[in-house]
Amino acid sequence: MHKINIDGDIEFEYGMEFSLLDSIEAQQLDIDYNCRAGFCGSCKCELVNGEVESIQTPNPVCPLGENEILTCCSRPKGDLELRFKNKLQQMTW
Ligand code: FES
Repeated sequence: MHKINIDGDIEFEYGMEFSLLDSIEAQQLDIDYNCRAGFCGSCKCELVNGEVESIQTPNPVCPLGENEILTCCSRPKGDLELRFKNKLQQMTW
């Protein structure tokens, strides 16, 4: 199992989810997303450590900075450390 660390203070194991976005949602974290298909860029984060594999090709118009990935288009190849611009919070119901 691959460990996912977010912002240095949230850690969980990647399960059988299709994408990092799905895995983060399964932890009930309030990640931003919209298209789930590599178009809008709202699910992006910085890949601080580790490697991901691409499961969908991001649309070329979606702006990605250096070391940025789209969580809807990626899944881990090993342990990952991710950083989000807006700190993820646990959703409360
Ligand atoms: S949700 Fe739109 S690019 Fe990931």
